[in-house]
Amino acid sequence: MKYWRHYKRMVRMVFTPKVDHHYVPDIYGRSASKMVDIRWDKEFKAMADEARKNGRTLLYYDRLHTLYQAIRNIARNKPAQDQKIRILEVGVYKGGGSYFMARCANHLFGQNITIEQFAVDTFGGHDAKDIPKGADGVHTPGLFSDTSFESVRDYLGAFLFVKAIKARIQDATDVTRDKGFHLIHLDTDIYEPTIYVLNTYAEKLAPYGILVLDDYGFTTCPGIEKAVTEFLDKHPGAFTRFELPTGQGILVKTGGN
Ligand SMILES: C[S@@+](CC[C@H](N)C(=O)[O-])C[C@H]1O[C@@H](n2cnc3c(N)ncnc32)[C@H](O)[C@@H]1O
Repeated sequence: MKYWRHYKRMVRMVFTPKVDHHYVPDIYGRSASKMVDIRWDKEFKAMADEARKNGRTLLYYDRLHTLYQAIRNIARNKPAQDQKIRILEVGVYKGGGSYFMARCANHLFGQNITIEQFAVDTFGGHDAKDIPKGADGVHTPGLFSDTSFESVRDYLGAFLFVKAIKARIQDATDVTRDKGFHLIHLDTDIYEPTIYVLNTYAEKLAPYGILVLDDYGFTTCPGIEKAVTEFLDKHPGAFTRFELPTGQGILVKTGGN
């Protein structure tokens, strides 16, 4: 692994990538050139640019587009006006992902739908309790601590329906557990909070509720796929799983528990 990273760096030094291009595995066939660029969707691009412009999210257009689609699907299902749409992000870091979801929800649901959104993070990076015995070796206690609760709370203050909470999700008692979420974005990179959220919130997703797991299948984040597989083994038939080439996994609640 160490040598592979070194090799990739050398290749990058020799072959400078074209502007706006990355080297990625050759998984798209010849017809890739016919694909639309998701940024041609002006509605999406405007909201993604707005969320990305302050450098507050690690999510690039591809992953933001998945969240955009999730929110658009909820909106297209025309929620009843007396229904509250509930959104949760766990793993907020500098707040850009939560901002983007709030921006999309605000725009796509219209004035008559009530939204409740939570943004939960330690805002001090990974907690040592979540990294038993060094865990995956990449994620260490304190990683992602270059942020602050106050700055994220103020940034998300643009949306009155968003509540930022400083806590490990395992201790976040003010995130109501009795009512189902319509969308959960789970982006902590590690096993412990992921399995906790799956066990605590996934079963209570609203009907057709969507759970998006970032870094699913990533070699650097093996805990995510492990947690999902363990969880699904205990709930056969209750969820449909999609593994996306964006590096995200999706669970859609499709059945009973
Ligand atoms: C990759 S960052 C999140 C990126 C963010 N979603 C974005 O849009 O850029 C991972 C975050 O998970 C948070 N985290 C890790 N364990 C957590 C836990 N048990 N509870 C809440 N947040 C946690 C870390 O503090 C870190 O900010």
